[in-house]
Amino acid sequence: MTVTWTSGYGINEAEPFVEWGPKGGQQGHSPAGTLTFDRSSMCGAPARTVGWRDPGFIHTSFLKELWPNTMYTYKLGHRFLNGTCMWNQMHQFKSSPYPGQNSVQRVVIFGDMGKDEADGSNEYNQFQPGALNTTNQLINDLENIDIVFHIGDICYANGYISQWDQFTSQIEPIASTIPYMLASGNHERDWPGTGSFYGNMDSGGECGVLVQNMFYVPTVNRDKFWYSTDYGMFRFCIADTEHDWRQGTEQYNFIEHCLASVDRQKQPWLIFLAHRVLGYSSDASYADEGSFAEPMGRESLQKLWQKYKVDIAIFGHVHNYERTCPIYQNICTNNEKHLYKGALNGTIHVAAGGAGASLSEFTPIQTKWSIFRDYDHGFVKLTAFDHSNLLFEYKKSRDGKVYDSFRISRDYRDILACTVDSCPSTTLAS
Ligand SMILES: [Fe+2]
Repeated sequence: MTVTWTSGYGINEAEPFVEWGPKGGQQGHSPAGTLTFDRSSMCGAPARTVGWRDPGFIHTSFLKELWPNTMYTYKLGHRFLNGTCMWNQMHQFKSSPYPGQNSVQRVVIFGDMGKDEADGSNEYNQFQPGALNTTNQLINDLENIDIVFHIGDICYANGYISQWDQFTSQIEPIASTIPYMLASGNHERDWPGTGSFYGNMDSGGECGVLVQNMFYVPTVNRDKFWYSTDYGMFRFCIADTEHDWRQGTEQYNFIEHCLASVDRQKQPWLIFLAHRVLGYSSDASYADEGSFAEPMGRESLQKLWQKYKVDIAIFGHVHNYERTCPIYQNICTNNEKHLYKGALNGTIHVAAGGAGASLSEFTPIQTKWSIFRDYDHGFVKLTAFDHSNLLFEYKKSRDGKVYDSFRISRDYRDILACTVDSCPSTTLAS
């Protein structure tokens, strides 16, 4: 487990650490690292100018060698040069299951949440009216959630640095209790001339520095925001749509390695996550482009999703909810809508970017692959009951109730089963 927090104490003033251990058991200490950045790390205005505010110090500690599915308690501390300590309140978390472990595992996924003011006051550039509803639903149901993925467009600070503290304060009840994992979006990373795949100014000059310092995710290089992570029977491959993903790139190679290296007998639920819609979406903006997705998205990646039998691909960026049939090359590979038995033969694509930011319209065009659309704020929950049974639910943020769902029920041999472009060729020799 990784614990990250901010303070005003640099390494010459106090040592940051975490006191932690099994709940009710002996507590030990782990050191924390300290990072910060200054105005020269920002790529442009407003982050470098009127939006700049000294971020203080960002501390990260790695709590290692945890027993699976065990309750731990922890407290953040700073030890000053004179030996006195300052403490934060006690928190607790349940450690992750071992990869492949058979226990009930519940995952919440959404994009584009942002933040809002509980007292109704206005803020500059404010446009995430659903953010508090989503946050409050998750807090109210926290004992039934094991891990969260916020897949890009995190807080929409857009170069106004102090808004990151506002956002982290809003999600603290969640992020201090369960893993809060991220993907990178345009509002975190994009800036002209800085290596982002899109040359727009959506990050307000942050060019990824804020998200890469304020949160830890297990990337090899924090600017290349792609990584894989295992949670019990799930394997998640998280792509970074703000860097090139096309064949021949470093990221494409990573995606293939992530998908190829999972043992599906132990981790049958293979989920692909990314910010922009690389798969399918009926959002009006994508329909107007004629591609029904990010240009160069599925052309580049659908062969990988098919070959490695990705179950579900979930995206943000479009501020609405949509679910497709299991699909490959624009063709539904399964006509069922609610209970998938046996092989899917394709990947189910989901847009889940409706967690907070103002909603985006769907095209009136009806496609054959779109099963359910909702123009409202909401989020997705996956529950793996065991190696054979998965429940997918879409919940609205306004009431926490389920408005769309399906189940997958299958055996290991159904994952091994061959369909179009999913198996290597066989020999006639026996
Ligand atoms: Fe976005």
